[in-house]
Amino acid sequence: MGIIIALESILDPLLLERVFPAVRPVELELGAGDGGFLVEWAALRPEHNFIGVERLLGRLRKIERRAVRRGLVNVRVVRLEASYFVKYLVPVRSVGALHVYFPDPWPKRKHWRHRLVNEQFPALAERVLIPGGSVYLRTDHEEYFAQMNRVFAAHGGFVPQETPAILAAVPTDFERGFRAAGVEVFRAAFAVV
Ligand SMILES: C[S@@+](CC[C@H](N)C(=O)[O-])C[C@H]1O[C@@H](n2cnc3c(N)ncnc32)[C@H](O)[C@@H]1O
Repeated sequence: MGIIIALESILDPLLLERVFPAVRPVELELGAGDGGFLVEWAALRPEHNFIGVERLLGRLRKIERRAVRRGLVNVRVVRLEASYFVKYLVPVRSVGALHVYFPDPWPKRKHWRHRLVNEQFPALAERVLIPGGSVYLRTDHEEYFAQMNRVFAAHGGFVPQETPAILAAVPTDFERGFRAAGVEVFRAAFAVV
């Protein structure tokens, strides 16, 4: 069975009970890339369902191969622009954790408006998170990391928290490369209040 979600509508919220064989708490990864983190974390948490959002079809297919090889029934992926998906298709208060790892940093100032974790992002996250739900962020880009912290502090609806050690121990594909090259990785986590 394929794991790529065939959207019935790009206007109406996704019916999560139709996406997964069993109703369980949902975690989202935005910009899931080749899915190394998604697949590993989903294997560790069979009691949760996972959706990876990714715009590149080749990467979705790679995640699919990895999930099928591991026999995972709790992983789905969707090909869509991540903020659109969160804003329009994810049901209100349906997500327990939102993972955003190494989003494109758009280092030139004139491109900063393309960043996923911008001033609007905390409100998007707050809309879909259940009470007590969390956003987990990682980046190698120090200035983007400062922006991430700034926008969550400015929003006021989140409190900083520690990334659980069990979660921090699961690297993403990009993170493996950064670590091998000795590049510093920054992490933050925020719980909705
Ligand atoms: C730098 S990679 C990191 C991938 C993965 N999170 C990791 O750490 O290995 C960023 C990924 O986000 C995807 N991406 C970038 N902008 C996106 C957007 N607006 N919507 C969905 N996916 C996006 C890219 O195609 C790419 O696979």
